[in-house]
Amino acid sequence: MLGSGGREHALAWKLAQSRLLSAGEGTLYAAPGNPGMAQHAQLVQLDAADHDAVAKFCTEKTIGLVVVGPEAPLVNGLADSLRAQGIAVFGPSKAAAQLEGSKAFTKELCDRAGIPTAGYLRAKSLAEALDGLSRFSPPYVLKADGLAAGKGVVIAENRAEAEAALADMFGGAFGKAGAEVVIEEFLEGEEASFFVLTDGATIMPIGTAQDHKRVGDGDSGPNTGGMGAYSPAPVLTPLLQGEVIERIIAPTVRTLADEGTPYSGVLYCGLMLTGEGPKLIEYNCRFGDPECQPLMLRFEGDLGDYMLACAQSSLSSLKPPRLSDDTALTVVMAARGYPGTPEKGGAIGGIEEAEKDGAKVFHAGTGLNSEGALIATGGRVLNVTAKGHNVREAQAAAYAAVDRIDFPSGFCRRDIGYREVAREMETQGND
Ligand code: AMP
Ligand code: GLY
Repeated sequence: MLGSGGREHALAWKLAQSRLLSAGEGTLYAAPGNPGMAQHAQLVQLDAADHDAVAKFCTEKTIGLVVVGPEAPLVNGLADSLRAQGIAVFGPSKAAAQLEGSKAFTKELCDRAGIPTAGYLRAKSLAEALDGLSRFSPPYVLKADGLAAGKGVVIAENRAEAEAALADMFGGAFGKAGAEVVIEEFLEGEEASFFVLTDGATIMPIGTAQDHKRVGDGDSGPNTGGMGAYSPAPVLTPLLQGEVIERIIAPTVRTLADEGTPYSGVLYCGLMLTGEGPKLIEYNCRFGDPECQPLMLRFEGDLGDYMLACAQSSLSSLKPPRLSDDTALTVVMAARGYPGTPEKGGAIGGIEEAEKDGAKVFHAGTGLNSEGALIATGGRVLNVTAKGHNVREAQAAAYAAVDRIDFPSGFCRRDIGYREVAREMETQGND
């Protein structure tokens, strides 16, 4: 398993329960991993950017499956390098990972396959972009084409803001990622995410989720990588899920396979539920972080089997996995200062106490100090995750666990899931 965040801890926790590992026959390695993952895996120092070093390690240890957590190594072709050495990988090739690696690639694929998405224009220079702006009306949606660690999208309220943002993008604010920009029509609606596993032919849904990107309660303040999430997202009804598979995901998977670049791994489909039906906002070639954490709490199959089947193009031989009917909800505890400069080194205690009623605390940005005590080392530090029969119960269980954690230099939102809780109260007629 490559990666070191809360997503990877959740995957490692679930994978450790796989028959591939639990019989004591296999070993799970995590590179670089984190102290939470160390409960399930042996930590090793490997640089995912050094494909030869990863391949050498896998060959020496006769690794049966490599699971790549984050997007950057996939977009850089790590899966191709490992497959060339005969090593099985859960995650798409460089060509297929373009679904996340290039916004323009995905938009053009949507054109070719007739997939509903926002109207758009590609611009390769500032002059071209400024000229193109006139074809859109505010708010303007401006996206750096390449990977920008989730920061490459600007929604500008007026033309002056849009012009300034475009000047920044072409001025190098996102490095190479901003050498090309996509301008999009603004979509109105509610956002939700849909996750499927695929081996390039078979598609298996593994759940829906919604996250909270803003740092503050009531969705206020700057954007973050995600301050919390829950699964399922009831707004994505079974009927809508069927429509998304038929009109968005299946044509994507089919088109990539037909073009000789089949997609395998998990496909994260970011959707806007508009008045005209669901439209694709973006694809990611990996699990969401923190969306993966509630998904893994609900996933009742053998994750190792499913991942291996994706890697070996044999997903059709498995039945779709059972997903718990419960709701799972994750609260992200972050270090003060996040999403700006987070305070590092803050002491963390109380995790065992927090887990005593069934909650799971995934580590995201933690480390050990010289005395071996757990400390914060990143922006998003802990992902406190709990289940309940509905969002309200899951929310109460997650916050009860949060309140047992002793992390004085940390903070969290207190309202993860609030929209869904309000909807639940409306439909149940409760106060
Ligand atoms: P992306 O990185 O493409 O997911 O964009 C980041 C966020 O910007 C999304 O989660 C949406 O909230 C918003 N966004 C992106 N594209 C659009 C669009 N065409 N219309 C409205 N909001 C958008
Ligand atoms: N939580 C959003 C993402 O993983 O992209």
